[in-house]
Amino acid sequence: MEVIVKNTYEEMSALAARIIAELIHRKPNCILGLATGSTPVGTYKALIRLHKNEGLDFSKVTTFNLDEYVGLSPDHDQSYRYFMNDNLFNHINIKKSNTHVPDGMAEDIPAACEAYERKIKKAGGLDIQLLGIGGNGHIAFNEPGSSLGSRTRVKTLDDQTIQDNARFFKSIDEVPRYAVTMGIGTIMEARQLILLANKENKADAILKTVEGPITAMVPATIVQLHPRATIITDKAAASKLTREYPEEPRVLKLKHHEESCCASTDSPSYAKASEGRPRKRTVRREKVGNRR
Ligand code: F6R
Repeated sequence: MEVIVKNTYEEMSALAARIIAELIHRKPNCILGLATGSTPVGTYKALIRLHKNEGLDFSKVTTFNLDEYVGLSPDHDQSYRYFMNDNLFNHINIKKSNTHVPDGMAEDIPAACEAYERKIKKAGGLDIQLLGIGGNGHIAFNEPGSSLGSRTRVKTLDDQTIQDNARFFKSIDEVPRYAVTMGIGTIMEARQLILLANKENKADAILKTVEGPITAMVPATIVQLHPRATIITDKAAASKLTREYPEEPRVLKLKHHEESCCASTDSPSYAKASEGRPRKRTVRREKVGNRR
């Protein structure tokens, strides 16, 4: 697991956008797992800028979102489908038919959850899953106590999540009590995870996620088991960490390759070397971070 601590939210967001943009350049028809909430808004703004200013092309990209409130229709301004259209999809050249958000209005929600899982598999699996983190350590709406092997299903929202999300609604009573969410098992099958956290109210959750033991009571701790997880935070969210973490991704240099690359940014040569086909090449670390 790689932990990168940036000075500001803007820098955190720019790095996450860069990792995603590099994936799109390398694999134009990639499958992105996306998140909602305040945290990824800066990343989406940075991706929109890359699209408008540098022509980053989303025309072949497919996306799957983590979650959706049960009972909110896509045109409800607090639904996650609305959020994604408003914060990203309406501003880039993605085909709406290639974007997927769980259906919180489905008549048969368990069947819709199974269908969502099948769609992800049929698309070839998630290349990158972007994650935020709840103050209670949830990822997507996998609240404390969620099975670490869970699949897409309905979850009851934790009291803390309802309180945290009340800021988006007129009153706390309007916050839905249930959500459809990708499971932790589903998330862990993504080929790469990027977990973002900013602000001090995430500092406890980040401390537990990075330096604590793996436990279902803090679902985000499961990312410690992922072979390719990058946690990017700002200084405030990292303020309780007890070790030093770098500000930049590690740079790897592959022997016999001229090109040097970022370990977490999916550069072709590193990706090939890490895809399980054992290569005879030796990987020499140029700058050693805190791989754990
Ligand atoms: C949203 C999601 C949630 C949020 C988390 C943090 O799709 O999956 O887990 O990432 O609740 O929310 P913010 O970013 O609003 O602090």
